[in-house]
Amino acid sequence: MSQDTQTLLDLANRYLFQNYARAPLCLVRGEGARVWDSDGKEYLDFVAGIAVDALGHCHPKIVGAIREQATTLLQVSNLYQIPSQIHLAKLLCDHSFADRAFFCNSGTEANEAAIKLARKHAKETRSSDCVDIVTMRGAFHGRTMGALSATPTEKYQHGFEPLLPGFKYVPFGNLRAVERAVDNRTAAILVEPIQGEGGVNVAPDGYLPGLRRICDETGALLMFDEIQTGMARTGRLWAYQHWDVEPDVMTLAKALASGIPIGAMLARESCARVMVAGTHGTTFGGNPFATTVGLATVMTMLEDKLPERADRVGAYLVERLRGLAHRVPGIKEVRGKGLLLGIELDRPAAPLVTACRDGGLLVLTAGDTVLRMTPPLVIDEADVDRAVGIVEGVLRGGQG
Ligand SMILES: Cc1ncc(COP(=O)(O)O)c(C=O)c1O
Repeated sequence: MSQDTQTLLDLANRYLFQNYARAPLCLVRGEGARVWDSDGKEYLDFVAGIAVDALGHCHPKIVGAIREQATTLLQVSNLYQIPSQIHLAKLLCDHSFADRAFFCNSGTEANEAAIKLARKHAKETRSSDCVDIVTMRGAFHGRTMGALSATPTEKYQHGFEPLLPGFKYVPFGNLRAVERAVDNRTAAILVEPIQGEGGVNVAPDGYLPGLRRICDETGALLMFDEIQTGMARTGRLWAYQHWDVEPDVMTLAKALASGIPIGAMLARESCARVMVAGTHGTTFGGNPFATTVGLATVMTMLEDKLPERADRVGAYLVERLRGLAHRVPGIKEVRGKGLLLGIELDRPAAPLVTACRDGGLLVLTAGDTVLRMTPPLVIDEADVDRAVGIVEGVLRGGQG
């Protein structure tokens, strides 16, 4: 297998669907917060697979769990009980609002499950025409047809119509708009506590508790998409813990198994109970391999106190970036929580992503003008200093 960069780029161009705007580099190895490309160049990875590699690359406990499970059992089907799935469900429920967990293979699938649960719950407990789901402008819930219909952005939906009926879109952060949209046909409100893809938009104080109140008054389910914000990313195990409010349903994926594909829907018993045998399922979801790695991931996060670490190192990164905003032009705002941060620029962010990469730092965008950072949660202050130094060099017009 060729590792020559130009050969790989030529083959990618020839054989892969061209549905991603990929950078022209091939990452071939990782360790902690560092990755190396096929030319041997080292990068500080402040993307981490887009908030996936929270424990850093090739964490010894994850490598150990993968090695052991690979020689024990990979897949058996949900025709049978799966011990690691049971233990992961218990661990997640013990550390959240939830009573039960369902496992699938990705974020979009977790949201599909939540959409189905919302409809079934509303039909059974309220009325047969109670099917609507309210979602927020700027949201990102995934690419499959249900999750895409919940994602009201033209660039994602265009060309794939007709979308699933029954979605109402309101501006993010505006409680009055939600009050106007919710009626007796509303089965659920689906919201990210912090919009990741949409620009690292943090829910204003009072917003999530306000949504909770609306749901309590109407019987609609409150569903949090914590696919990007969950798993310690924002400095709490779950982002909702910043606002002292609990949902009825929460969806997870990304960091849950350190890069092994997994998704999960957690829910209270009062709504989980409608998903009786035969109502939903998946071949791979919750398999021994993914859930063993998920278990190792969550246990390591808790043992190593990664929520606290993300909180502390994230605060330091914010402080450094805000300091930078005073020294160099171009930064309008630094926002986010923990290690999910957005730097609002006065210009398009994409060229800066390229310049940072050339300088040895991987970052990404969130919308057109926001530079996003989602580094491994195991980074330290020295990593932050190095990253901020590279961003400073780029903003000053050099290369960091
Ligand atoms: C908040 C949120 N929901 C859903 C998804 C979709 O997850 P996946 O790409 O695993 O389908 C993403 C992915 O970026 C996300 O950030």
